[in-house]
Formats: sequence, C-alpha cells, structure tokens
Amino acid sequence: MDRSRTTVLRTGTQILGTIAGLATAVSALRWLWKHAWLPQRPQGNRLAERYGRGSWALVTGAGDGLGKAFAHELAECGFNLVLVSRTQAKLDHFSEALAPLGVAVRVVCADLSDTSDATYELVAAATRDIDLAIVVNCAGVTIHGRYADIPTATVRNLIDLNVTTTAMVTRTLLPALLDHAAATGRRAALLDVGSIVGRFPWAGTQLYGASKAFVDHLTVPLGHEYRDQLDVLSFQPTVMATAMAAGTEPAVITITPQAAAHAALSHLGRYTTSHGHWRHALAAALFRYLPTELRDRVLFSQALAMAGAERAKERAG
Ligand SMILES: NC(=O)c1ccc[n+]([C@@H]2O[C@H](COP(=O)([O-])OP(=O)(O)OC[C@H]3O[C@@H](n4cnc5c(N)ncnc54)[C@H](OP(=O)(O)O)[C@@H]3O)[C@@H](O)[C@H]2O)c1
Repeated sequence: MDRSRTTVLRTGTQILGTIAGLATAVSALRWLWKHAWLPQRPQGNRLAERYGRGSWALVTGAGDGLGKAFAHELAECGFNLVLVSRTQAKLDHFSEALAPLGVAVRVVCADLSDTSDATYELVAAATRDIDLAIVVNCAGVTIHGRYADIPTATVRNLIDLNVTTTAMVTRTLLPALLDHAAATGRRAALLDVGSIVGRFPWAGTQLYGASKAFVDHLTVPLGHEYRDQLDVLSFQPTVMATAMAAGTEPAVITITPQAAAHAALSHLGRYTTSHGHWRHALAAALFRYLPTELRDRVLFSQALAMAGAERAKERAG
C-alpha cells in the first residue's frame, strides 16, 4: 500500500473514531441529564405552570405504594386530588394525612378489577365537575411462575385490572383531559405505569410482562395523536419497596416509591417513555445489552424466586 493511501486510511479512521467518541459522549451526557440531573430538581413549579395551578389529578391505586407516592407529590405541587383505590380505610387515612397540604381531595373506593360499566361510571362521576389535568393509571397486580401453574382466575383478574381497566379509565377520562387543554390553553397529562417487565419477553412473568407491554403500546401513541394537547409518559420502573414487591426485591435495584414517583414526574412533559430513577435506567440498559440466552436464564431464575416469595406471602395471608 502506498504512503498516501495509508495516510488517507489513518485519517479516515481517526475521523470515524472521533465521531464515535463524540456520539458516545453526547449519549452519556443525555443519559446523565435525564436520570441523574432532572430527578434531583424540584418539579412543583414546572408541573403547576404546565398543567395549571390548582387543577386536579386523578390517581388509581392511590391507597398504597407507588400510587400513593404519586398522589402525595402531586398534592405537594398544589394539585387537587381524586384518589381511586380498593380499600376505603386506606383512602380515608391518606386523605387526612394530606390535609396540611391544603388541597381538595375526593376518594373513590372501587374494585378496579370489576370491569363492568358501573366501575368506570363511578370514576367518571367523580371528575365531571372538576378541571381534570392529570391522570395517573397506577393500579396493578403482578404474578410470577410458570404459566401452567398460574390459576385461571388470577389470569383473568390480572388482565381485568392491568389491561382492561387501564384502557377503560384512559378512554373514560381522555375527553376530560382534552377539555382541560381546550379550556385553559395548557397541556394535560397521562402517566401510565408499566414495568421494565413489559420491555422484554420475560420467562416466569409472561402474563404480567404482556400486560405492561400493552400499557406501553396504549400510552405512547396517544402522545402523537394528541400532540398539541397531551403529554404522555409510559413509566417503566424496576423494583420498588412496596407491598407488591415485599420479600422479592433484589436490594441493589430497589428504590422507594417516593424516589420512583419523583423521577417519573421529572420526566413528565419531557419524554414519552422512562424508567425514571437512574438505578432503574441502568438496570434496563444492562438487561438490553446482555446476550439473550444469558438474560433469559438470569431473569427466569429471578422470576421463579419471586414466585416462591409470592406463594409464601399468600400462605401467610
Ligand atoms: N413494586 C414494584 O416493584 C413495581 C415494579 C414495576 C412496576 N410496578 C407497578 O407499579 C404499580 C403500583 O405497584 P405498587 O408496587 O405500588 O403496588 P401496591 O403496593 O400493591 O399498591 C397497589 C395499590 O393499587 C390498589 N389496587 C390493587 N388492586 C386493586 C383493585 N382491584 N382495585 C382498585 N385498586 C387496587 C391497592 O389497593 P389496596 O390499598 O386496597 O391494596 C394499592 O393501593 C403497579 O401497576 C405495578 O405493576 C411495581
């Protein structure tokens, strides 16, 4: 090879290397901005300005865990709340705890796995006379184990709650969100809670994963359909220290529901999908780049361990 060709090759390689290095640096900075910087910032003023100070947010699954954390943070931002969940006593107790924040609170006690029209009518009735700006679909259940071992009643219940109710609550309340945008000139928001499990075919939690993939595919397109009015966030956390995950959580990726909710809200209006907290985003990135065979093996054994913990919780009542 003559000298000039060698020089051209070397220069070309250097340029490509520089471009690849810059692209990697930009990706790393964007990742740090999203997962390390934004979740450290207070979000109250931004959210209140964007969606309307003193407007209302409805949160399902608000009696406990992540839904409760979302509701609490939204109340701290000044939003009035409609809390929807199954256990009246938990909702009442939580409403009392919110009193010092000075926001109005309504509670709707409903079993959201009951997919009859009456359930969604109850939810709609609670929002008819308010300026509804934000909906957080958070109520959900999980199940782990080999599919043939999962009782058929559990299969139905999970689909009813995670799939049908997410779709129906969204369909029921979307017109009110669009009305808010039209009346105020501000944006409305839909935050649907999925899971990292919806991101990959995941042995040992196939049904739950399929339901959360549904949530993702329902949510993201709405951001395009209503791009002038609606912010959507398909939120896919990993493991949080809640009743759902109790006894199953690997410590290294377990965060509080408060930290998860805060990270998700810092992404609302900025992204359409998010794993939220940096620990969860890192776990998702690791899973994505693991060779499929290895990932399947690791995740399946993890899911079976979770199945064991869930059965133990059931036996303990
Ligand atoms: N925990 C995790 O590690 C994790 C990870 C990824 C995604 N997620 C998702 O995050 C969401 C919240 O999970 P979580 O961990 O906060 O769960 P959680 O601690 O079990 O709380 C769930 C809340 O939803 C309510 N709920 C459950 N079934 C209901 C029903 N049929 N009708 C009405 N309300 C019902 C519960 O009501 P009661 O108060 O009556 O029990 C509770 O208030 C779920 O969608 C879940 O899939 C959780």
